[in-house]
Amino acid sequence: MLKQEIQIFTIGKSEKKPIIFIHGFPFDHHMWEKQTDDLKSLYYCVAYDIRGLGVSSVGDGQFTMESFVDDLEFIINDFKLDKPVLCGLSMGGYIALRGAERMEYKLGGLVLCDTKSETDTNEGKIKRAEGIKIINQEGVQKFISGFVPNCFSDSFINGMAREYNEILSKALNSDPIGVKGCLLAMQGRTDVTTYLSKIRIPTLLVCGEEDKFTPLIAMKKMAEKIMDSEFTTIPGAGHMSPVENPKVFNSAIMHFLKNKFN
Ligand code: MLT
Repeated sequence: MLKQEIQIFTIGKSEKKPIIFIHGFPFDHHMWEKQTDDLKSLYYCVAYDIRGLGVSSVGDGQFTMESFVDDLEFIINDFKLDKPVLCGLSMGGYIALRGAERMEYKLGGLVLCDTKSETDTNEGKIKRAEGIKIINQEGVQKFISGFVPNCFSDSFINGMAREYNEILSKALNSDPIGVKGCLLAMQGRTDVTTYLSKIRIPTLLVCGEEDKFTPLIAMKKMAEKIMDSEFTTIPGAGHMSPVENPKVFNSAIMHFLKNKFN
C-alpha cells in the first residue's frame, strides 16, 4: 500500500505509550482533537483518516472492514508502534474490535466508544442500501444531513451550535465514493461477538448516555462479555461522546490508561 494513501497525524513523543485514535463515520481525525490535546504530554497520540474520509485517499471506494484493518496494521508496523492502545468510536470501534480479533498480540489495550460487536441486522443492511440510493439519486449532502444529527444529543446541537455546524459542514464535504465505500464496508463486516469473551487485553468501554445508535444498555451487555473490562457512561452525550463531553470522556480514558499502563 502506498503510504500517502492514508493520512496519519501524530502528536506527542514517540517514546511514550502509543494510542491510535480511530474515528467514526462520516467524520475524520479532527473529532479526537480534545483528546489528543489533553493526552499528548503523556502518550504518543496517533490519529488517522480512515480511507475514503477526511483527507485520506478515496481511490475506487472498494473498501471492506478487512481492508480497513489492513490499513490499521500497516500504521502499527510502519510507525513501529509497540503495543498501542486502540481507541475507536463506532465504525472506528468496529475496526478496533476486528483488528484486535486478528492481531491482539500486537496490541496493548482497547477503548471501545459508542460501538458494538454485532454486524448489521437485515434491517440495518437495507438502511445502508437506502443510504447509497439517496447518495446516488439526491447527492451525498442529502444523506449526510439526514445522518449526522442523529449522532449528537439535542443539547449539543442546540447548546454548541457553532461547533456542531463546523463538524456537519466538514462531513457535508465528504466524497460520495468514500462515503458509499464505508457504508458497504460496514454492511459487509463480520460479527465479532464471540471474540469478546476471548479478549485478554485491558479494555474500557465508553458510551454516551443519550446514544441512539449504540444505546447504553447494549454497550453494558457487551461489557459483561469482556473479562475485567471497565465501563464509563458519559452524561449528556449522544453517540459522539468524546466530542460532546470531553471533560468526562478524557478523565475516564486517562484514569484507565494510568491504571493499566503506567
Ligand atoms: C459511526 O458513528 O461510525 C456510525 O454510526 C457507525 C454505523 O453507521 O454503524
